[in-house]
Amino acid sequence: MEIFYEITPLKKKLAALKSQSKKIGFVATMGALHAGHISLVETSNRENDITVVSIFVNPTQFNNKEDLEKYPRNTEADIRLLEDNECDIVFIPSVEEMYPEEDTRVFELGSVAEVMEGKFRPGHFNGVCQIVSKLLDIISPDNAYFGQKDYQQIAVVKAMVKKYMPKFKGNIVPCPIKREADGLALSSRNSHLNPEQRKSAVLISKTLFKVKEMSDNGATQKEITDFVKKNIATDANLCLEYVEIADKDTLLPVEGNLPVNAVVCVTVFDGSTRLIDNILL
Ligand code: PAJ
Repeated sequence: MEIFYEITPLKKKLAALKSQSKKIGFVATMGALHAGHISLVETSNRENDITVVSIFVNPTQFNNKEDLEKYPRNTEADIRLLEDNECDIVFIPSVEEMYPEEDTRVFELGSVAEVMEGKFRPGHFNGVCQIVSKLLDIISPDNAYFGQKDYQQIAVVKAMVKKYMPKFKGNIVPCPIKREADGLALSSRNSHLNPEQRKSAVLISKTLFKVKEMSDNGATQKEITDFVKKNIATDANLCLEYVEIADKDTLLPVEGNLPVNAVVCVTVFDGSTRLIDNILL
């Protein structure tokens, strides 16, 4: 496994690999790696000759300074984990390397970036688009893998690539959510939970699994959102920020009887830790 800290030598290496017709897979991460990230690496390894993973805690996507400072960082353990999982190239740039000057680009993507996370974390997706567009431009992968844990992020990245990167020919590949044995979606932020909060967190996925059952039995949008609100409120550690039932492609809210092509997205504070999860209906 080779580690790069700078763009120029990484590009040189990738150009050499591409000249040998090697297929390049790419996984963008902010580090503090867990089995969810590794599932993306494994898919990339299966579908490409070379897997590149980036580790960069992108400051422009944090709309809260404290959240950025608190974000877990563990680069040495990350490197070991990637080595053990047959990653070929790791890119670990500094903030100066990625943002030699302020990135003032504004990505206009319409409702897909404005609903849900877009509404509750203003500026977040603009920062995601800034960094993902830079990384895709540098690496120019054949396939870039993103987890459905961040369901809306995939829709935003797809829209960004379509509108702002017409020359990008790679695929944006969605990958399923990796969960703990008890159902909790893996997240770097889970490391902030104390044992009691960790126990409470299980109710989030439990609620979503129940929602899927309700929808299979014909429940309406209102019945489902009422159920989610009530169920999450039964645990004193949890506070629901939003529950939204959205069209799985446009992410616009779905009302009345549910079509099957919908996704239920929730954001829940567990203590002061903000957790997101979703389920496709
Ligand atoms: P990060 O939260 O580190 O996630 C990196 C990738 O791993 C994302 O595509 C995310 O959806 C995926 N992932 C996280 N938890 C997962 C899980 N439990 N199952 C499956 N996939 C999971 O998302 C980001 O970083 C950043 O916004 C980034 C795209 C790197 C841009 O800075």
